[in-house]
Amino acid sequence: MKKILITGGAGFIGSHVVRLFVAKYVDYQIYNLDALTYAGNLENLVDVEKASNYTFVKGDITDENFISELFQLHQFDGVIHLAAESHVDRSIEDPMAFVKTNVIGTVNLLNAARKIWHGNFEGKMFYHISTDEVYGSLGAEGLFTETTAYDPNSPYSASKASSDHFVRAYGETYGLPYVLTNCSNNYGPNHFPEKLIPLFINNIIHNKPLPVYGDGNYTRDWLFVIDHARAIDLVFHTGKNHETYNIGGFNEWKNIDLVRLLCGIMDTKLGRESGESSKLITYVKDRPGHDLRYAIDASKINTALGWSPSVTFEQGLEITVNWYLNNSDWLSHITSGEYAAYYEKQYQ
Ligand code: NAD
Ligand code: TYD
Repeated sequence: MKKILITGGAGFIGSHVVRLFVAKYVDYQIYNLDALTYAGNLENLVDVEKASNYTFVKGDITDENFISELFQLHQFDGVIHLAAESHVDRSIEDPMAFVKTNVIGTVNLLNAARKIWHGNFEGKMFYHISTDEVYGSLGAEGLFTETTAYDPNSPYSASKASSDHFVRAYGETYGLPYVLTNCSNNYGPNHFPEKLIPLFINNIIHNKPLPVYGDGNYTRDWLFVIDHARAIDLVFHTGKNHETYNIGGFNEWKNIDLVRLLCGIMDTKLGRESGESSKLITYVKDRPGHDLRYAIDASKINTALGWSPSVTFEQGLEITVNWYLNNSDWLSHITSGEYAAYYEKQYQ
């Protein structure tokens, strides 16, 4: 029996990873450690909360003593670390929150793993989940590979880059077994509506303006979240120790083209005239330090581990839009309270 700690399991990607592991590995004990910040939501996991191989632990990865005691108590065999502050716009407002959770929190976990494994690394693995944003911005051409130099531009990406460096340093210095993945933008069910796709779905439903930053010609590479969870499963079990893998959707979209596509889908779903939702598009002040383009070369994980996305963007968007339309309670719980204050401040 393996004991696996998943951090940030109540968040967007983490909840899909928890669901996959709890269902697929009935002989593992899965511990989900999450501080339940504004982004953490146990409603994401109602279908797994009663499973006998699942335990939720509320706690903060920045709390050194708590983390150390938790590792001593459960003697985890593996860590899949997703807990993070994850939104670029929030990092521009409050960089220190990102330093605390993404850097100090990660180092706390590394120290705790190192302490309980104390040199006996057989069957152990620390899996750090990172982002393609650590590579900075691409121009019109080229793709991020695993050897692209780090060049982060936002406090969010700088904090993730820093945590990646600590993971590598613990591998080199202490021999800690690790794997690390840098993934492109995810989308799908349970995505917090501060990020582009769920924010715009929610605003279209409520006939609110769609705030496109700058000229809308920024490009992102979109991956369906369940395909990211599949990749995490594969890398955790078959990834090579001390290796990095890039994960991406081979799916680049300019923001404005993506928004128009989404508006078209929503028109159909909501029975609106074609072109009605796109009238909500409103160009607003650009994000400072806005990265022009992200695009992943995912050929290493494809060739080495046999991973590729299982759904097309059209299929993934259809599933996503249907999920938001069928889960209005989830959306309304999220968008009450703190969210309203955040929205007011960000888009005033
Ligand atoms: P999210 O913001 O939806 O979820 C983060 C989770 O971490 C939440 O449940 C939150 O409560 C928890 N958390 C935050 N601070 C914590 C703390 N101090 N202690 C314990 N738990 C804490 O994020 P996400 O989009 O699911 O991203 C998960 C991971 O994947 C992050 O590390 C992120 O950098 C990375 N990533 C995200 C994307 C993306 O497109 N969303 C792409 C690539 C990589
Ligand atoms: P986001 O979902 O915040 O992801 P990231 O910044 O990590 O890539 O943003 C995706 C793209 O959409 C990015 O280029 C910024 C842009 N964007 C808008 O134009 N308007 C918005 O309200 C938001 C949240 C994002």
